[in-house]
Amino acid sequence: MVTSAYSIAQLATDLREICAQTKVEREILSRARPLARRAALAKESWLKQHMYEADPEQGFGVHLLHEEPDHTLAIFAVSWLPDRGTPPHDHGTWSLVVGVDGPEINTFFERVDDGTRSGHAELKKIGEKVFGVGEVVSMPSGGVHVVRNETDKRTMSLHIYGKHVNFTGRSQFDLDRQTETPFVVNLA
Ligand SMILES: [Fe+2]
Repeated sequence: MVTSAYSIAQLATDLREICAQTKVEREILSRARPLARRAALAKESWLKQHMYEADPEQGFGVHLLHEEPDHTLAIFAVSWLPDRGTPPHDHGTWSLVVGVDGPEINTFFERVDDGTRSGHAELKKIGEKVFGVGEVVSMPSGGVHVVRNETDKRTMSLHIYGKHVNFTGRSQFDLDRQTETPFVVNLA
């Protein structure tokens, strides 16, 4: 596959320009989507072997590649251990996730309770899709998903968020216990 170079610094510059031109989330997502794909296909420009390291307790490794001084426009390389994944979670901001190495399964949920009981959440599964290299998951604020690596190798994806997810007050969910609790990830 022939791809042109595309650095994370250039991606950040392009994202800054989009966000300076519009505050409408769906416009940001639709304009940034092809940039996410371009960055994934130009992985030689930025991907380093150490980014495959993952936290065995967490099941994945979160490598910060860029964020603005106010924590906006956060870009991460995230590696996934075989047969591991995340609990159901939201991001507290818009997000784009693109496959870089290997397929990852995304299961999507919607909230069906009215959100008035603190710590309580009821979720309904609304879809599931395998995302391969260069395929982009686009999620507005409030979207909930699970990511799983069901292969026998480490996978890699590039994640772009409107704001660093450890600074958005986002949540994880327990489907059986119907609970909502804070979700903070360990950074590599
Ligand atoms: Fe996520």
